[in-house]
Amino acid sequence: MPKIYDVYLNAMKVGKESGVTSQEIRVLIAHEMGYPEPIDVLYHKDDEFTQNQKFEADFAKLLQGMPVEYVIHEATFLHTKLYVDQRVLIPRMETEELVANLSERITDYYDPRNYLVCADIGTGSGAILCALKTLFPNWLLVGSDVSSQALEVAKKNITDNGVRANLLQGKSLEPYIAAKMNLDIIVSNPPYILNRDEVQESVKRYEPEEALYLTEENSVYEDIFKDYKKVKKGTLLMAFEIGYDLEAYLTDLMAKYLEDYDFEFVKDLNGLTRFLFVFCR
Ligand SMILES: C[S@@+](CC[C@H](N)C(=O)[O-])C[C@H]1O[C@@H](n2cnc3c(N)ncnc32)[C@H](O)[C@@H]1O
Repeated sequence: MPKIYDVYLNAMKVGKESGVTSQEIRVLIAHEMGYPEPIDVLYHKDDEFTQNQKFEADFAKLLQGMPVEYVIHEATFLHTKLYVDQRVLIPRMETEELVANLSERITDYYDPRNYLVCADIGTGSGAILCALKTLFPNWLLVGSDVSSQALEVAKKNITDNGVRANLLQGKSLEPYIAAKMNLDIIVSNPPYILNRDEVQESVKRYEPEEALYLTEENSVYEDIFKDYKKVKKGTLLMAFEIGYDLEAYLTDLMAKYLEDYDFEFVKDLNGLTRFLFVFCR
């Protein structure tokens, strides 16, 4: 039986041309061996590799360009392990930053120990709901998505992680308006890609199209700004992940639809404008 380190080195050599990264190989080997973290592959490098057949089949998927999270059906979001498949977007680091920025700013607007009602619009895998419940256990969380298939995945993730949250199906604010809900906070990482040419081939091939593109027919931002008064009881904080090229578009939309509001565009760790916080009084 080969040693783990030999399998790792060989996979690196074979995967190089297809752009498979060392991290993806570590994630895959750790998953097949049942190690909790990818780094464990190096701690166990001299152990025998007992999972060769399964590894060969899964490694072939990596070579074809499938993201490792879809291969192993698992993604990590902050401290939570989530089930993922091609019905949902793989949660990204920028979205972890959105949650971090929201927790940093929340006390400027609310006492987060209160029972605040928070909606995650376009919840996908339910990543944001799972993270928020850990950070703010008192909040009443509701997630929604236009895709019923995505909601099946979100349901699994909130159940598996013991997160109490309601899930609604529908476009933008429509399900909240139908349920006559009043919201204190809206958080959303909606489809925001304008330029399809900038999208990586593996994203185009494997991730759900309805999660990606901002179009005239589907702008969650515009829908929310148009209808926000219908779900606002007192004040309303909105926290969005945005495309790096959307600042002017969103500034115009806010001016068109919102009243009595403050806003702040926030940069991500790479220095790109990637978040928008809007507070309506
Ligand atoms: C970029 S993904 C974000 C998924 C997840 N919140 C995350 O951060 O990983 C956008 C999600 O919004 C959903 N979506 C697209 N248009 C929508 C709309 N008009 N109303 C509600 N959800 C929508 C998609 O199905 C997809 O699950």
